[in-house]
Amino acid sequence: MRAPPSGWVALAMAASVLRLCLSTAEGSQHAHPDMVSHLPGQPQVSFRQFSGYVTVDERKERALFYYFAEAEVDPLSKPLVLWLNGGKLNNLKAVLANGWHWPGCSSVGVGAFSENGPFRPSGQMLVRNEYSWNKEANMLYLESPAGVGFSYSVDESYYGAVDDKMTARDNLVFLQRWFLKFPQYKGRDLFIAGESYAGHYVPQLAELMVQFNRRERIFNLKGIALGNPVLEFATDFNSRAEFLWSHGLISDATYKIFSSACNYSRYVSEYYRGSLSPICSRVMSQVTRETSRFVDKYDVTLDVCISSVLSQSKALSPQLLLTTEQQVTERIDVCVEDETVNYLNRKDVQSALHARLSGVSRWTVCSSVLEYDFLNLEVPTISIVGSLIRAGIPVLVYSGDQDSVIPLTGSRTLVQQLAHELGLKTTVPYRVWFEGKQVGGWTQAYGNMLSFATIRGASHEAPFSQPERSLVLFKSFLGGRPLPETF
Ligand SMILES: *[C@@H]1O[C@H](CO)[C@@H](O)[C@H](O)[C@H]1NC(C)=O
Repeated sequence: MRAPPSGWVALAMAASVLRLCLSTAEGSQHAHPDMVSHLPGQPQVSFRQFSGYVTVDERKERALFYYFAEAEVDPLSKPLVLWLNGGKLNNLKAVLANGWHWPGCSSVGVGAFSENGPFRPSGQMLVRNEYSWNKEANMLYLESPAGVGFSYSVDESYYGAVDDKMTARDNLVFLQRWFLKFPQYKGRDLFIAGESYAGHYVPQLAELMVQFNRRERIFNLKGIALGNPVLEFATDFNSRAEFLWSHGLISDATYKIFSSACNYSRYVSEYYRGSLSPICSRVMSQVTRETSRFVDKYDVTLDVCISSVLSQSKALSPQLLLTTEQQVTERIDVCVEDETVNYLNRKDVQSALHARLSGVSRWTVCSSVLEYDFLNLEVPTISIVGSLIRAGIPVLVYSGDQDSVIPLTGSRTLVQQLAHELGLKTTVPYRVWFEGKQVGGWTQAYGNMLSFATIRGASHEAPFSQPERSLVLFKSFLGGRPLPETF
């Protein structure tokens, strides 16, 4: 047999070397197409970050954007946590005047960059969040539904009527396909956490997973956590009056009419049906006048970001922009939202994140294109929470106790009632829990399956205003343990 020409040998050798390189590259995470090598302005870190798109509908070209921060230490041994934000629901008039609809706020902008992610933007830089939840878990932030943040639908008719069912389905498809990109996380202990309107998203997604698992077990769901969640519209919304009154934001007289003549659930329900009655209109203007727009309804003790409050009334003057700078020096940057908007609109940041804007000219915290079916708000999800518990999924409901939008009192009542309905006995009686040497909040647990906790001094976005306490809560939740009883 004749030997092949030497050129051919060289070529064959080159090809096999190439194949070898390719196969090692596939095995190594460094070649992952969604890997973020470096975010502009970020400090050096040891963990890996990824971000990009998962197509959830090829025909309509709908894709959801995610940001994934692996655990700081030993990611292989840590669970996977999917985080979902909901929306802003305080001042409906401002929401509509700004063209903001809710739900539809970004889990990347709010969750990752203001609450429990590894970094917070500050000017041109990113600063480390010492209490990032990726100390305990691999954190996956999803911008959902399409139309929120960098997530998009090329077929824009999709935005016209999005509802809870569509969102839950897309979220499920997202995760299934995300596992194809990250097969090492398939079968990993999985938790879903979120806040506000995610009181709808999280239980609805978890319910689909439980159903899906009956056919093919791919979601190793170990628990869900819901922060200041909308679980039952009337109970949640009508606890607002008493909260505002007891914190001195409204007078005795206003409290009286706000809890008799027209309560908040009736106001919202009339408002969204376009049939606002004169009485509800009168009551709400009285409430709005007394509470004042210079108080953050998401945390009645926190200062507001003056520049954004004023820009909402289109009265922004150049001197006022200075306030943003001044507040950066405070322990908590109440203008973090403005910082995030600036940061995520930088072209270098978008390219580092593999993000692109589709159909919108700017990244916004809350969607300006999405028209969500508002009336879904009235669909109770507390019953879904009940069925998840019956299916063996542990649930934590927690409340930042300074939030007047979804106050702790409504959530506590709903959890209590659910425990009663399910016949779950109290396993941890109502007591304080500790972080450091101080009270982190109060907690009660039922049947080792359902628990409630407050976070003392925390806002609607609890990990933003009380990061240390929130991290202790998160750690206990993942470990399935009651909150620390002593210090
Ligand atoms: C709120 O108002 C609605 C409609 O008037 C009423 O059915 C409901 O009982 C009220 N809820 C509370 C807690 O007052």
